[in-house]
Amino acid sequence: MQFSIITGDLSKQKTDCVIVGMWDSKKLAPAATTLDKAAKGAIAAAAATGDISGKVGTSLMLHGVAGVMAKRVLLMGLGDEAKYDTHTFCKAITSAFKALKPTAVTDVTLPLNTKLVNDLAHKVEQTVIAAIDAAYRYTATKKSDHKHVGKSLAFHLDGKADDNAIKAAIKTGEAIGEAMQLTKELGNLPPNIATPAYLADTAKKLAKDYKFKCTILEKKDMEKLGMNTLLSVSKGSYLPPKFIVLEHNGGKKGAKPVVLVGKGITFDTGGISIKPSAEMDEMKYDMGGAGAMIGTMKMVGMMKLPLNVVMLVPTCENMPGGNATRPGDVVKSMSGQTVEILNTDAEGRLILCDALTYAERFKPEVVVDAATLTGAMVIALGHVTSGLFANDDALGAELVAAGIAADDKAWLLPMGAEYDELLKSNFADIPNISGGRAGGSITAACFLARFAKAYKWAHLDIAGTAWKSGADKGATGRPVPLLSKFLIKRAGV
Ligand code: BES
Ligand code: MN
Ligand code: ZN
Repeated sequence: MQFSIITGDLSKQKTDCVIVGMWDSKKLAPAATTLDKAAKGAIAAAAATGDISGKVGTSLMLHGVAGVMAKRVLLMGLGDEAKYDTHTFCKAITSAFKALKPTAVTDVTLPLNTKLVNDLAHKVEQTVIAAIDAAYRYTATKKSDHKHVGKSLAFHLDGKADDNAIKAAIKTGEAIGEAMQLTKELGNLPPNIATPAYLADTAKKLAKDYKFKCTILEKKDMEKLGMNTLLSVSKGSYLPPKFIVLEHNGGKKGAKPVVLVGKGITFDTGGISIKPSAEMDEMKYDMGGAGAMIGTMKMVGMMKLPLNVVMLVPTCENMPGGNATRPGDVVKSMSGQTVEILNTDAEGRLILCDALTYAERFKPEVVVDAATLTGAMVIALGHVTSGLFANDDALGAELVAAGIAADDKAWLLPMGAEYDELLKSNFADIPNISGGRAGGSITAACFLARFAKAYKWAHLDIAGTAWKSGADKGATGRPVPLLSKFLIKRAGV
């Protein structure tokens, strides 16, 4: 997709579509007002028809507006003028691009008001992300029914602005947008294609494109390292497990890296503690954490972030079978702690705990994991906000702030002794489930915390946010925006 900055008479821009805003009072926003003058009131008249309420998320397509060179004018609702903020803008622009999906529009012009200078760059970045995101279509195993192909987007500025800041914002937006596309594609691919080996191959390709160091640990390597909790999950599957390591040395030599860990269960049947069959297909998204970390590494590579970043992805399938782990099995994790596997469906924490132990060898500055870890997370926060846990308050706050900045929110939840005490087993150092269903996301986080004592660590439970169910079933690309903001800020760019 091509992005550019243009100026001059908006009504004279030759483009497939120009997007302008209106408030829910039916009043036109500044650029719409300018265009309306050239159109001799046609846009205001359309806004007054009642075909568009002006609420955020609404839009109305106008064709062949006289006096305007653009083939189409898309009116987008911006809601209440008094409450207008960057978040509203993000929501409105995302819906506007969604409205373009069934159209043949390939070339878009978006006027931006330079008087909002302090967050102009941010708006440009968010728009680029929304445009790339809207242009994503799944075509790997089916023809797409979306006509809209985003080819170019021009930002029309009504006055002077810091072109360099805007160009930088475009670059950042492109990196985050393309990272999200990769994350979405990995999530959406069926589980017979997006296997552990496929994720490893994707990482290898990224390493080639962006000069990362790539190491794939095979089953025998994991056996040598004593990653037995990870291996216990993969035992029921015919597909061999992989442990993917990507290293980006963009920071100072010897500077401690940020280590990213992603849960890479390419299909979660539950194992012997098998899941009900309804909606089980969605468990192909159980590699959402891994997909997000692989996507985030693409962003790191595209941006050439001056930061040392290591990505660890433990990946395998959780299947039942003659050789599968049984409820009651006790295995020794790489950390030396023994784990009683009371429920084979609580497998995410079993692959993550060995990855968290492996992370120690990189002497991390901080470790952040992302995992579709618990169904309880969906009950707690729904599909809006990711769950966040941290053993360090500052790191927790930093990630919350990154989520707000990226419009990809996470909410900090508690851990602590009262929950940790629930992790008791008569037959091992720690059970993989405890405390029943109550506080299930928290006890899962407490399990992980037992393996993350050597460093500052945070855990994102993205069970509710990594994908959408229903008619719009598909990966969301979250929490790539949050993680990107977090890393970009740390890199100081
Ligand atoms: N991958 C699931 C969590 C999940 C379930 C995410 C539904 C999104 C939607 C995870 O491996 C799992 O099965 N967790 C169990 C844990 C339980 C056995 C303690 C769960 O949430 O039911
Ligand atoms: Mn499971
Ligand atoms: Zn799972």
